[in-house]
Amino acid sequence: MRRRSGNVVDNCTVPVGVEEGERGMEVYQVGVVGAGTMGAGIAQTAAAAGYQVLLYDVSEEAVERAFTSITARMAHDVRKDRISQADSDALLRRLKPSTSLAEFARVQYVIEAATEKMDVKKLLFRELDQVCRPETVLATNTSGLSITEIASATERPDLVIGTHFFNPVPVMKLVEIIRGQDTSEDAVEVAMSVCERMGKDCIDVKEAPLFVVNRILVPMLNEAIFVLQEGLASPEDIDKGMMLGANHPIGPLALADLVGLDTLLFVAQTLFSETGDPKYRPAPLLRQMVRANKLGRKSGRGFYSYE
Ligand code: 3HC
Repeated sequence: MRRRSGNVVDNCTVPVGVEEGERGMEVYQVGVVGAGTMGAGIAQTAAAAGYQVLLYDVSEEAVERAFTSITARMAHDVRKDRISQADSDALLRRLKPSTSLAEFARVQYVIEAATEKMDVKKLLFRELDQVCRPETVLATNTSGLSITEIASATERPDLVIGTHFFNPVPVMKLVEIIRGQDTSEDAVEVAMSVCERMGKDCIDVKEAPLFVVNRILVPMLNEAIFVLQEGLASPEDIDKGMMLGANHPIGPLALADLVGLDTLLFVAQTLFSETGDPKYRPAPLLRQMVRANKLGRKSGRGFYSYE
């Protein structure tokens, strides 16, 4: 793997476990691109692991919203005695807002969690490739877009990798590590070690439409929406059925609301169009809900209503 031999940049705290002499090779500052639900959760979890975190979004408002939600979550965790006030303050100090990708020249590892649009991701990766040091691994948090295509926007396809986190990121243990066509073993090793340091368990996955978990999960959520559309049972009973009958922590319709119905539709549509298999067609009710701006928790209304 190409490694930087120079010294560390200023103003970085070396995380626990990283020897002074190794600083040039180790990841100790992480850049997160996109301050939405996933980006904020990833940034919080990375800061909790001791990384210095640069959290970027195009607008200051988006970054501020993320900081407000992370601060509120930390206050909740302090109240619950999960973390001391001092550790929570230290965690928050490790998070830095950013609205300029130029600042990513400092980081050793990037996790992109911007919107699920291929053209947006390719533009970001092109810019990151120019800004970041040549040995920096660029990871994308995508629900199902092609890592190979995202990597094609860079001159370092060997260092581009998929790391698929699950919502809510601070709670969910899994990260899918997805290899694009040219992803190197070095990139896999770096991504796995960063994710493990963040307290996650990883699975090693080859690139394919929706990877592993969403390939199985999304048709199940889509089927629950078909069941509702066909009037077989109420949302409450469909969810109760899967919670009590299959031991799921929440029912599929509540989970669809948590994921976001627009995201779910996008991901379901990707599976359908990539495979051409009619068994994966998105439920018409799902489309209708999205058209009505009933997007789940994020819009206050989905299959359920939220305060
Ligand atoms: N961040 C941090 N902590 C959170 C959180 C968040 N966003 N949301 C909930 N939590 C914590 C709460 O603080 C709570 O802890 P506490 O009560 O001790 O404070 C704990 O999780 C449980 O929360 P609740 O009591 O509010 O509700 P639940 O018991 O229903 O748990 C849940 C919430 C953890 C989300 C649980 O319902 C669950 O595990 N659901 C399944 C989630 C899932 O399957 N996610 C995967 C989605 S698919 C995906 O992300 C892939 C994408 O590509 C589509």
